[in-house]
Amino acid sequence: MDNPKPGKPTMAELEGLGYYDFMAEAFDVPAFQFGGNKAIEDLLIQCGVDKGKKVLFVGCGTGQTACHVARTFSCEVTGVDIAGRMVDKARERAAKEGIQGIEFRMGDAYDLPFGTGTFDIVVTEFVSQFLDLGRAFPEFARVLKPSGFFGMIELYRDDGAPPAVGERLAKAEGAFQRLTGLPFRIPPVSTWRESLGAAGFDVEFQELRGMPRFRDAKDMVPARQLLGIIGKLIVYAARSKKLRERFKAIQEAKRHFIRDKLSRQHSGYGLFVAGRR
Ligand SMILES: C[S@@+](CC[C@H](N)C(=O)[O-])C[C@H]1O[C@@H](n2cnc3c(N)ncnc32)[C@H](O)[C@@H]1O
Repeated sequence: MDNPKPGKPTMAELEGLGYYDFMAEAFDVPAFQFGGNKAIEDLLIQCGVDKGKKVLFVGCGTGQTACHVARTFSCEVTGVDIAGRMVDKARERAAKEGIQGIEFRMGDAYDLPFGTGTFDIVVTEFVSQFLDLGRAFPEFARVLKPSGFFGMIELYRDDGAPPAVGERLAKAEGAFQRLTGLPFRIPPVSTWRESLGAAGFDVEFQELRGMPRFRDAKDMVPARQLLGIIGKLIVYAARSKKLRERFKAIQEAKRHFIRDKLSRQHSGYGLFVAGRR
């Protein structure tokens, strides 16, 4: 199951791509890792990463974090993503950076192309919040060794957040669901815990509040890439009504969440380290 259409796309092809294939193709989208490399390193250490351990990134995107982890810990990394263009970009990145012990392939979180008990660690980073947890978490448990850990960095809202926050986050969720076609949610911590528990995990949670700090942003988007992204945004918006509308929808989703003071007060992102019972 490989991407059938590699190569530079035309504007019409870009318009026809799904959200994540578009983000990969148009912008070579960098990591979506609030907390920077430090957060992902902390997560992997808490999951017991070591030289030679087998680590699976589900929803690896363009592979920035997966490459960083393979380089930092000398572990064997596999990345899967459902978007073929993401996988193409991840492979290009690994080859360009000369990373050893890494492999990227297309794959679906609900039906991972691996045998039972294959991995020491399974990781999602801003991916599980887009998934049906009742289907995804048991699948992650299946591919883990009995002693394995599932680690994730995902968004959450406070349990007991005021109703006004619920209303705003519902708008943001709806906007991201329309954009991606995925069941995007920002669940309360209790829901994350229950869903992990139902899949047979005991979980430790560490909250990291607030949106990315400036010093972490460089891990998400290197400055040289940021200028290129801004330039492309301007060109695409000027040339395509369809893409202009897509960018507007992204802004609309952010308005109710990342840019909303009350929502920000009652939500954040956190590290979840889940061991199998
Ligand atoms: C917000 S991006 C995060 C990408 C990457 N983890 C990062 O932090 O940069 C979400 C990713 O999940 C992938 N994805 C969504 N649903 C998926 C599924 N069912 N199976 C595998 N990947 C999926 C998307 O294609 C996208 O690359």
